[in-house]
Amino acid sequence: EWTTGNIVEEQVAAIRAQVGDARVICGLSGGVDSAVAAALVQKAVGEQLTCVFIDHGLLREGEADQVERDFVAATGAKLHVADERDRFLSALAGVTDPEQKRKIIGREFIRAFEAAEAAVLQEAAAEGARVEFLVQGTLYPDVVESGGGEGAANIKSHHNVGGLPEDMQFKLVEPLRSLFKDEVRAVGAELGLPAEIVQRQPFPGPGLGIRIIGEVTAERLDILRRADAIAREELTAAGLDGEVWQMPVVLLADVRSVGVQGDGRTYGHPVVLRPVSSEDAMTADWSRLPFDLLARISNRITNEVQEINRVTLDVTSKPPGTIEWE
Ligand code: XMP
Repeated sequence: EWTTGNIVEEQVAAIRAQVGDARVICGLSGGVDSAVAAALVQKAVGEQLTCVFIDHGLLREGEADQVERDFVAATGAKLHVADERDRFLSALAGVTDPEQKRKIIGREFIRAFEAAEAAVLQEAAAEGARVEFLVQGTLYPDVVESGGGEGAANIKSHHNVGGLPEDMQFKLVEPLRSLFKDEVRAVGAELGLPAEIVQRQPFPGPGLGIRIIGEVTAERLDILRRADAIAREELTAAGLDGEVWQMPVVLLADVRSVGVQGDGRTYGHPVVLRPVSSEDAMTADWSRLPFDLLARISNRITNEVQEINRVTLDVTSKPPGTIEWE
């Protein structure tokens, strides 16, 4: 019988068999996938695992804390944190093409990860151990959409944060490779991860970098982060987190429109709300959120985020639209 408990037992046994007594390293992205993959490996081989969190500055409000505090509290995993926000901003300066952004973020992630990894390897060496394995939170839909599945087209290059270097010295551990997102959440809950992590909506590896249409700058990230936090807060307060698969908030950073506030003219940026319902992200429909909720989100964003003077709703299904705008 195919139950969540079985999946956990099976994966734990498979990880132990694959890894033996070698050391394992795992990059945490801030998302549910890498958290659950790491928690599985932690359960399987405990102290042999070191998690690495690269803070690339493209996460949403509060997410870095969630990794550094909540994940560690729930799993007891060893965590190495690297503040690499400046590295990513410099590398993304002037870049507007979506696939270019993904490539850069993937490339810089590898460099940042290699730097962090060197520290972990050194630590292991000092204890006479060797790090041989790298954990990846790859899901079944990622495998299919990246062209790994039969007859699949490469629609977008799905670099999970940490797309892999060609001369990689590690063997991969991919305990989620055959699972869909709902199964990953069930496994996370079974492993005792807190609801904030397990129920967290999917978030792309390149993060807010592909939700700013135009160049990514510190200022734009700050604007988007504030708008996104409001949208998420209101969705949660309305009790509708379970109704949507994810709700990207997209900043049209190069677009400006005229507005009016108080007795002044404004010339601000629009954001797009992109709430979607989906089973597995392969197809999606736009979520019919209550108008009251949309009105609250719109009012709060335009009142509280001075740079934004217009909130719009994306009513496109997938296909033809993808979930993300880039
Ligand atoms: P799209 O936009 O292709 O998104 O309909 C499908 C799902 O994948 C996420 N997504 C990504 N995840 N790296 C990721 O790790 C990426 O480059 C990427 N692009 C999209 C998206 O958030 C949605 O859940």
